[in-house]
Amino acid sequence: MPKKISGEADSSDRHLKIVVLISGSGSNLQSLIDAIDTGKVTASIKAVISNREQAYGLQRAAKAGIPGLLLNHQDFSSREAFDTELASLIDRYQPDLVVLAGFMRILSNSFVERYLGRLINIHPSLLPLYPGLNTHQRALDAGDREHGASIHFVIPELDAGPVIVQGRIKINESDSAEILASRVLTQVEHQLYPKAINWIAQGRVQYDTGKVYFDGEPLPTQGRQINYDHE
Ligand code: GAR
Repeated sequence: MPKKISGEADSSDRHLKIVVLISGSGSNLQSLIDAIDTGKVTASIKAVISNREQAYGLQRAAKAGIPGLLLNHQDFSSREAFDTELASLIDRYQPDLVVLAGFMRILSNSFVERYLGRLINIHPSLLPLYPGLNTHQRALDAGDREHGASIHFVIPELDAGPVIVQGRIKINESDSAEILASRVLTQVEHQLYPKAINWIAQGRVQYDTGKVYFDGEPLPTQGRQINYDHE
């Protein structure tokens, strides 16, 4: 039976406790902050950690009164050393869930194993299509008719963890990679991530030995599907 990702261990704070990791603009972080503020997601963000000083997401965190921490990967001699320090920062907040929101770092196996089942990522493609970078251009080059984003639990293999949910939109003939990236971000990602996180907060989504369960039932490989052309 899958284990619940519990936000209820500490009776003084019944919300799912989250730490968000970012590298850039942090627009997905903002959508989560807004969804929490408007009561759409029952969770609280305990800290935002960036590996880049210029990440605008750190300013978004400050504006929202959330502790923002900088851990520059360039100050570390190896991936493992950075990840060890990152884990010790995260663990200060004892989060129920670690949310990767545009965190552009490959994580070491030991980091991923430490948070297995409570570490999620948003990836701008319909996985298993286009793991890695340049997903929008690759979808256009392949002549795809649809594109979107996936929310998945993180496993050691890059962008290969079990998918919770995918959001789709149709590709327009006039889409460039830039336009498509912006449409996926605003029409799909900003809706999809808060929704998935709230499912986790409600105990509806669980991870167990490589599989995702929704309301106790195993999900298909591509997770739940939402079409954002009609939303
Ligand atoms: C988002 O499009 C997210 O899906 C992508 O980075 C962007 C971050 O935007 N993540 C990845 O490519 C991870 N492989 P944001 O900083 O405005 O949320």
